[in-house]
Amino acid sequence: MKQRTLLLIKPNATKKNQIGSILKMIEENGFEIENLKLFRMGGELADEFYAEHIGKKFYDELKDFMMSGKIVAAELSREDAILKLRELVGNTDCEKAALGTIRSIYGDSKGENAVHASDGIESAAREIELIFQ
Ligand code: CMP
Repeated sequence: MKQRTLLLIKPNATKKNQIGSILKMIEENGFEIENLKLFRMGGELADEFYAEHIGKKFYDELKDFMMSGKIVAAELSREDAILKLRELVGNTDCEKAALGTIRSIYGDSKGENAVHASDGIESAAREIELIFQ
């Protein structure tokens, strides 16, 4: 089934001029870019976007990091987009991400892992709405 999902290219990757390389991998893997946005995340949006993580011990670090620089959001479509993007992105911890995945190539650590990908149908719809409303 054709689906839509959301990719965020995080501040560590945008600072290193890796936007083009990451989007090239996305396009080469069958995703179509439906919507694209370069922006900075404010505190309110960070709290909404990552609401499920508020209160966890890494949350303050995650929020500071996401507010530390430019972010690129891409709304993507393809068959089984949500699962296929999670596969291409790899494990949250870039040390554990399979070779050839985006996080294995561009991630610096579990926190600064270069990209975010929606993890399900409901979160994809919620995140696309939050970013592109
Ligand atoms: P992301 O896919 O953006 O979703 C939540 C983010 O929290 C995750 O990627 C990581 O960057 C971050 N995260 C998850 N667990 C940890 C952790 N133990 N320490 C630091 N950051 C974490």
